Amino acid sequence: MNLSIIVAVATNNAIGRNNDLIWHISDDLKRFKKITSGHSIIMGRKTFDSIGRALPKRRNIIISRQENLVIEGVEIVNSLKKALELTKDETEVFIIGGGTIYAEALPLANKLYLTEVHSNPEADVFFPEINRKQWKETFRENCSSDDYSYSFVDLERI
Ligand SMILES: NC(=O)c1ccc[n+]([C@@H]2O[C@H](COP(=O)([O-])OP(=O)(O)OC[C@H]3O[C@@H](n4cnc5c(N)ncnc54)[C@H](OP(=O)(O)O)[C@@H]3O)[C@@H](O)[C@H]2O)c1
Repeated sequence: MNLSIIVAVATNNAIGRNNDLIWHISDDLKRFKKITSGHSIIMGRKTFDSIGRALPKRRNIIISRQENLVIEGVEIVNSLKKALELTKDETEVFIIGGGTIYAEALPLANKLYLTEVHSNPEADVFFPEINRKQWKETFRENCSSDDYSYSFVDLERI
């Protein structure tokens, strides 16, 4: 199984504020949908709360320490390890956040789908530092919207 991380991350590693995304970049949301559709997506409970619903055409797996938590349309596990056990026979599985789950999953991941947002916003959740010596860039596309310039960047573990 290939473990991939998909994240929109600012220059200062910011990814979230007040349990929400910092920006709205519609091409980024489209790319997220295209890349993750048909696959399992694994997320922390706060990220699920922030999205507010199960994302269609994907197996939604939520990580939470809460016992007896039941949410329609999603699977709930109490560790990343259990989420990975559930998906071990799949070809590619996506970690979609947030900060705590990214930090735990980064050492295990072999592919990163980054949207590098070229700004330094205030934030309360950050992506862990990526040691670029451990990764090779396999794709880069520079883009801009009215509000942001950003780059779609794929990294594969060396
Ligand atoms: N920019 C992006 O691409 C992106 C993507 C996703 C999310 N985000 C942002 O990230 C922020 C949310 O991230 P976050 O770090 O605050 O929360 P999170 O990682 O989404 O969720 C944290 C929750 O996950 C559960 N959890 C975490 N580690 C666990 C473990 N080892 N075992 C069992 N359960 C565990 C706990 O749930 P319980 O409290 O239920 O026990 C914990 O409170 C939001 O601002 C969101 O918008 C940004």
